[in-house]
Amino acid sequence: MKNIWIIANWKSNKTIAEALDWISLVGPKLPRKENLPAGRQVLKVVVCPTFASVEEVKKQVQVGNYPLMVGSQDLSPFDSGAFTGEESARILRDFVELSILGHSERRQNFGETDQMVAEKVKQAKSSNITPLVCVQNADGEVPEGCLLVAYEPPNAISSSGPNAKADTPKNASQTAEKLKQRYGNDLEVLYGGSVNSQNCKGFLLEDNLNGLLIGKASLDPEEFVKIVEEAASF
Ligand code: PGA
Repeated sequence: MKNIWIIANWKSNKTIAEALDWISLVGPKLPRKENLPAGRQVLKVVVCPTFASVEEVKKQVQVGNYPLMVGSQDLSPFDSGAFTGEESARILRDFVELSILGHSERRQNFGETDQMVAEKVKQAKSSNITPLVCVQNADGEVPEGCLLVAYEPPNAISSSGPNAKADTPKNASQTAEKLKQRYGNDLEVLYGGSVNSQNCKGFLLEDNLNGLLIGKASLDPEEFVKIVEEAASF
């Protein structure tokens, strides 16, 4: 059965209070497994808040028993120890099930390299956190042991400027196909970059794609719920 991942990447947005507001609005509206069409796909909805919010968000998700996983937007390439400012996988594992690694904003602004991303994948795996590695094109490096990637062309990301435009579903699908040819058919490929409730369907219809990584549109609870509902309708 095919997994469909709908992942909210909040980036450096939302105070803890705003994060909890979002959860209280989105959580109750997420489709429960028993209400989804049987046997066709497994819907996996994830929210990736800032480090400061993950614990409170996790608690609220547990209290509400919402069908929502919590992820982080990064984690340390090192184990716990003398690494000032880092959040290690071993610490994060209490709160997060997935971690976005190697996002283009981290590569551009924080000098993250493929080698660092590969170390982060190892750390994530050793703490049972699912690594989601972002690649910018079909030549992107997918570290060993990583089975979930997001294809995100940097100029499609909404924050890249006023000309940011989503890639076409066809091109995203072809890129996913090339990545699968390089790394095997077990690789799940998501698309990210200016996804919203208007254009999400085109990507969700592509067989080669396993869902979406959503930045700006995920900040708005109503918009995010619409995207999840679209994904749940297949
Ligand atoms: P966007 O960001 O949806 O705001 O374009 C996507 C991402 O950077 O993950």
